[in-house]
This record gives sequence, C-alpha cells and structure tokens, in this order.
Amino acid sequence: MTSEIVSVIGGKEASNGVTYESVDPAHLDEVVARVRLADPATFSTACRTAAAAQREWARVPAPVRGRVIASIGRLVEANAADLARLVTREIGKPYAEALGEVREIVDTCDFFLGEGRRLYGQTVPSEMPDKNLFTFRVPVGVAAVITAGNFPVAVPAWYLVPALLCGNAVVWKPAEYAAASAHALYRLFAAAGLPDGVLNLVLADGATTFEGLETALAEGTVHKVGFTGSTEVGRAVGELCGRHLQSPCLELGGKNPMVVMPDADLDLAVEGALFAGFGTAGQRCTSLGTVIVHESVHDEFLRRYARAVAAAAIGDPSGEVLCGPLLERRFADRYEEYLGWIQSHHTVVSGPVGRITAENPRGDFTGEGGLYYHPVVVDGVRPDDRLFLEETFGPIVGVTSFSTLQEALDLANLPGYGLSCAVYTTDPASVFRFREGIGAGMVSVNNSTSGAEAHLPFGGNGRSGNGSRQSGMWVLDQFTRWQSMNWDHSGRLQKAQMDVAEIVPDLDFRL
Ligand code: UN1
Repeated sequence: MTSEIVSVIGGKEASNGVTYESVDPAHLDEVVARVRLADPATFSTACRTAAAAQREWARVPAPVRGRVIASIGRLVEANAADLARLVTREIGKPYAEALGEVREIVDTCDFFLGEGRRLYGQTVPSEMPDKNLFTFRVPVGVAAVITAGNFPVAVPAWYLVPALLCGNAVVWKPAEYAAASAHALYRLFAAAGLPDGVLNLVLADGATTFEGLETALAEGTVHKVGFTGSTEVGRAVGELCGRHLQSPCLELGGKNPMVVMPDADLDLAVEGALFAGFGTAGQRCTSLGTVIVHESVHDEFLRRYARAVAAAAIGDPSGEVLCGPLLERRFADRYEEYLGWIQSHHTVVSGPVGRITAENPRGDFTGEGGLYYHPVVVDGVRPDDRLFLEETFGPIVGVTSFSTLQEALDLANLPGYGLSCAVYTTDPASVFRFREGIGAGMVSVNNSTSGAEAHLPFGGNGRSGNGSRQSGMWVLDQFTRWQSMNWDHSGRLQKAQMDVAEIVPDLDFRL
C-alpha cells in the first residue's frame, strides 16, 4: 500500500509541488510513499506560521510542556514496533537497529520531560544591598530543523524534543527519502496535543529548503537553525546563518578513527570495528572510518577482522542482519565513487567489492532488487589518500598502522573531522593520553565509535561541526538564550561598580 504524504503547516495539510517517490532500498520496485515536495514559499510560510504560534506556546508553563513531552514518549513507545518497521522499510536499517533508534526517542523524552520542571535559572548575589540578580532561560523563538535520513526519527527527536520543551516552535524539514518515517513521527508528536503551528513539517528538497530558509532568515522568522548532514552543506548553512548573526547547531560528517593499542583485547576490538564499520551499512555519522592499529598486532587484527567481516550477515533488513541495503540510490551512486578511491597500493582484505548481484554475489546472496553492497576493508591506506582523509558514507573501512601513540593521535586527527573516535587498550595511561590528544567531541574506550547514549553531549569539532552540542542538558544552550535581570528595591539609584561598599584591608600586614 502506498500512501501520499504532504507537508503540514499550522495543523493543515499544505499540498503543492512535484511528487517524489520514497522507495524501499531493499525492494526497489516498492514505493513506500509518494511525497509532495513543497516550494520555497511554503517553507517560509511555515516559518511565519511557527513564529505566530510560538508566542502562546512559550506562555504554556514549562512543566506543562514537559507533560506534552512525556506524552510524546508514551506514544512513541506504544507505536515503537510500527515506527521501527516503517524505518526499516523506508531506509533499509536492520530492524533491531531501527528499534534501537526508536528507543532513543523515548530516552530523549524521558530525559526532557523532567527538564520541564527544572529549566533552571539562577539567583545571583549583587554587589549592592537591596538588589537581586537573576538569570532566566528564554526560548529562542522558531527553530528550523533540517535532518538527514540515516537516523530518520531519533536524530530529529534530539532537536524537536528539547526545542519544544524550551518553548520554541519548530519547522522541521526531514530528508525526502525518509519522509514517510518523518511524517509518522510528526503524527505522534501532534497526537500528544501540541497546538497547531507549534510543530510544522515541510517536505522539500535541499535547494528549495535553502531558498526558503534564506527568505525566512531575512524576514526574521527563524532564530535557530539545526542541521544534520554533510560537511559541504553544513558549511553553506553556517555561512547563511552567519550573515544573519546566527550560530546554527551543525552536526556534520565524520571520519571516525579507532586506535588499537598493542595491549588491546583484539577480539573486542574486532567486534567493535565490525559494528562501527558496517552497522547501518556504514552510514552513521559515527561510523568507523579508519582503524589505526599498532604495527605489532596489525597482521593479527586484520586476519581476525577479515574473518569477522566475511562471516557477517548481510541481507534483508527485516531479518537478523548486521548490514542491510544503502539508504537510497543517491547514496549508492556516491558510494560507488568512493570505491573508486581504492588504489593499487591498497589491499582489499574482505573479498569482492561493489554491488551484490547475481554476477557478484556474497555466497548465496545475490542482493536481488535491493541496494546491497559488499562490506569492504582496505589495508594500507596512507595519510594522503582520499580514502584516509574524507568521509566515505557506506560500508568501507580503511586500515593503517602506527608505532607510537603520538603517531596514532596525529593520524587520527589528520583528516580534520572531530565527531567520534575509539581507543582499544588495557592501559589507563594510554586512555587518558588518547583523550587529551584527540580532537573528537566523543571518545569511546574499548567500545565502538557508534552508539552514543541520548543524555551525553553529542556533536563534533572541525569538519564535523561548529562545536555545538545536542542531547542531554547541553542542548538547552542551543534552544534557549540566557537573560539576566537585576532588580533594585532600595529606592535609590545604586550605580554598579561605583556605589559599592568597600572593606579596607591592611595590605602591609605581615606575620
Ligand atoms: C548519526 O549518525 O547522525 O551514536 C547519529 C550513534 C547514534 C546516533 C548517530 N546513537 O551512532
């Protein structure tokens, strides 16, 4: 059954524009949803609608908004299996992972429902008597949230839940190839009782969104942009926001390194590298880019890693597999370009490369009808290889070796991303030296580069983002601004820095 889905603005369907087909990447002949794509004016209209609705929403007491977040969590939990199945169908994420992704929304709601009763400000002592100082968190206004489709429901929830809790209205533009999952999540949010216009869903392509955003920023109806996607587009979004004196929340790509020290538990490292490299078919922004393994264990690690990759289950994402298809044709095409970066000085240790077909099967699996690719492990990557320096969204992992920890750190930092990383070691001294020296926002010790928990700060540095952080209490600084208030009830004008009592010390005093 194929549904048609359209944007929802101010609680009403906004049906205009061309139709895009969101296709099941495991069964390319199955259309999951026909998606009506909006034009730029629809995006900027949504921002105006949101701005009008936001004033009332901000007046709803935060604990009451927190109850709405609690309801969203309950609704998502009650619909978890259906939502996860839809995610699996629409983007090919293995069902167990899709269920984990849905769980991450519930976790986020669990965290923020209580924030409605905190959202603390401070009382601060003044320099003067009969004067009180306070700080308040103030909602920013309208957040325009633009998200990728590899985490079509969890990552959007990282923005939507805290943004709404803090009293903002939201215009959400999900990836078009994940529009059905987004639409379902929108409906769950709406069912929790959000007033019309507080959350708006705009289904549009990237260029249209950019144009609509440009208009909205100029009109003053967007006050915060949240963007998850490529470094290239993030740069353009950052430039646009900068022109309007705004700092967006940017969550961009990664070339996440895993350093394997000589004292590492190699089987554990292999298990971590397998999930980090090939879970979600290598299409997490936290996916493993390069394994940087000590020269003394390089050969043994590689042998075990190649064996584990060969044994991994790849196939229909509704079954128990490590790896399903790629998200969508566009990603498969781009991934094929990355495969072209494999050069003669590299050694592919994982077997066949490229799309899984009847002519290029993986055992008995011929990948019929889906965007399935062989998982690839490339040994011998060098610091000046594109394969080493750039994100390769898809199931490919590079391997290189090092002799000292400093050398490993230099290699790990070289690509200039800074989202996630991992170190495998049994030596606490190496753990802390690694943590100090690495440029990533997230560090895993004896754990995969993927799998951040929903209540720790999530975000990157360098080419991975502008230092903004999502999740947990840290994201509150994205969706609120601090306001300070001073209240003088002395009945006099007490001038700061000037009318301050002085207690005179005897600074010549000596024992
Ligand atoms: C992403 O790929 O954009 O840590 C987010 C993880 C997940 C989130 C990934 N919890 O891999």
